[in-house]
Amino acid sequence: MVPSRTFLLVLWAWAWGPHGAHGQTHEDNEFLEDPILFLRPEPGQGSLDCPRECVCTQEGVVDCGGIDLREFPGDLPEYTNHLSLQNNQLEKIYPDELSRLHRLETLNLQNNRLTSRGLPEEAFKQLTNLNYLYLANNKLTWPRFPAQPWSAEPPTSYQIPGATFGQKPNLRRGRGPPPGSVYLHNNKLADAGLPDNMFNGSSNVEILIMSSNFLKRKMRGQRQMKVRGLGNNKLEKIPAGAFSELTSLRELYLQNNYLTNEGMDNETFWKLSSLEYLDLSSNNLSEIPAGLPRNIVLLHLEKNAIRSVGPDVLTQIRNLEYLLLHSNKLKAKGIHPLAFQGLKKLHTVHLYNNVLERVPGGLPRRVRTLMILHNQISGIARNDFATTYFLEELNLSYNKITSPQVHRDAFRKLRLLKSLDLSGNLLQTLPLGLPKNVQVLKLKSNYLGAVARGALAGMAQLRELYLTNNRLRSRAVPPRTWADLASLQLLNMAGNQLTEIPEGLPESLEYLYLQNNMISSVSENAFESTPNLKGIFLRFNKLAVGAVKESTFKGLAHLQVLDIEGNFELGEGSKNRRRPEEEEEEEEEEEGEEEEEDEEMR
Ligand SMILES: *[C@@H]1O[C@H](CO)[C@@H](O)[C@H](O)[C@H]1NC(C)=O
Ligand SMILES: *[C@@H]1O[C@H](CO)[C@@H](O)[C@H](O)[C@H]1NC(C)=O
Ligand SMILES: *[C@@H]1O[C@H](CO)[C@@H](O)[C@H](O)[C@H]1NC(C)=O
Ligand SMILES: *[C@@H]1O[C@H](CO)[C@@H](O)[C@H](O)[C@H]1NC(C)=O
Repeated sequence: MVPSRTFLLVLWAWAWGPHGAHGQTHEDNEFLEDPILFLRPEPGQGSLDCPRECVCTQEGVVDCGGIDLREFPGDLPEYTNHLSLQNNQLEKIYPDELSRLHRLETLNLQNNRLTSRGLPEEAFKQLTNLNYLYLANNKLTWPRFPAQPWSAEPPTSYQIPGATFGQKPNLRRGRGPPPGSVYLHNNKLADAGLPDNMFNGSSNVEILIMSSNFLKRKMRGQRQMKVRGLGNNKLEKIPAGAFSELTSLRELYLQNNYLTNEGMDNETFWKLSSLEYLDLSSNNLSEIPAGLPRNIVLLHLEKNAIRSVGPDVLTQIRNLEYLLLHSNKLKAKGIHPLAFQGLKKLHTVHLYNNVLERVPGGLPRRVRTLMILHNQISGIARNDFATTYFLEELNLSYNKITSPQVHRDAFRKLRLLKSLDLSGNLLQTLPLGLPKNVQVLKLKSNYLGAVARGALAGMAQLRELYLTNNRLRSRAVPPRTWADLASLQLLNMAGNQLTEIPEGLPESLEYLYLQNNMISSVSENAFESTPNLKGIFLRFNKLAVGAVKESTFKGLAHLQVLDIEGNFELGEGSKNRRRPEEEEEEEEEEEGEEEEEDEEMR
């Protein structure tokens, strides 16, 4: 268990690269995690012919990592099949010593000082069993591809790095990387190292990671490239035919470069007929490259400057399931209405952090998860979601949607929708026509002062309702508001202007969040209709001493948390109003109510 998780962590760091998902710099040491850690032998198991300071097992695992080696060890046991020499000072390897190790399957040379000269090709010629070669963090100036080291075995293991948002694509075939993996990120690969036929003879390579290198523009001839420091010294162009031999390549990592559309053409990726995972994120693309091969399942295009999606750049990628286009410059009209036509497998689309001013037309028909938050959308028209019958999760939070602009019938087709997020918009009234089958409905941080009569009618599946941080007063939520919510377990109305406990809450309710309101009294029968309550949160209201009677909670057999701290005249510190988040953290420490905390976080 632990070993495979370690591996996943490493790949994750690679996938995001130094300018990763959160814009922070992953230091290189994340890359230095030992990919064959799971094979690390117990110390003290060394046998007689184990090199000094290394650890060896009878099974052929030899770990000479991090022992300040300057020279390739000359006395490696011949039965070695997994060799770690990472985190040393090696400048070159000795071909004779290496080629003796004919059983070698894994060779980890990460984080040394190897130059291309120090890594001669013939060294690998004999290594017919070599499946994994780790070369990241060296000083390679051109990629060395051993002529045919890769075993022809079908991959027994496969892991997609960089899966986002907790969703793992279905590419996973087991644990660990497939045979034929080449890791070249964080080197100093330069133009000289990218001959047009650079991957000739490597048709079994399945994973190629070239992110975050320092490749200069490959000149097309006359124009000299000005070098303005390292920042401009990255890959801008992929030479014609560079990938044309890589017909077995399944994963290609090119994120964090300066690739532009001019730096590639419609044939650049075309021959990669096995490619399932392509990462072009954090580059300088202004449109989706043409000629992407049909078997791509997961396509990373986020963090570019993409302004348009043409009618014919995606439609041939018949196997596309995940399309990540967030953090680009897309406006709705930049997305062609036929851009997603025929993409029957496309189920996850990320369009957040763009400049969409409306929901784009022609959404993929089978989309199940649509992340369209943090745009400029001001309304939802009648037919925006008229064809996306399969939508299960729709996140429209942090747009500019106003109540009158939400068409009453806009959600009529979304019968499968389970989760709708409209938080952070400009809604003043809880609108009519919300999808009836949702289980989670979030409307936090709007300007809700009213709930349209019948707005929550028929929502018998609703389990969690977040109305947090709005302007709701008690009279805006009469008892009939909740009448149909027979499954409601969590109601969050913290940060409103309520003066009483809402009446008529459904019997199913387990958690009621009402902190930061203006509730001054709790009637004795306030919780009569909700016998299943497990948590009641009334922090920072205006409850006076004696305003709450113990008998009020008598019928609540399941009650675990009753939080009435921070009310006026109750306890100490009540005058220092603190933010609710702080409070909750504190509470967790004080009372160890972790479950409730989790419940709240979900
Ligand atoms: C690849 O290598 C083979 C044999 O070494 C050669 O015949 C062929 O022309 C090469 N292809 C390219 C594109 O250089
Ligand atoms: C690339 O574009 C050229 C010219 O427009 C065209 O002839 C060729 O068929 C295209 N190739 C692919 C793979 O789409
Ligand atoms: C990215 O492209 C824009 C224009 O498309 C250009 O102004 C900018 O300099 C480019 N950035 C780099 C790092 O090449
Ligand atoms: C919508 O996206 C935001 C940002 O990722 C997230 O915090 C929120 O939980 C999402 N909403 C739902 C209902 O999952």
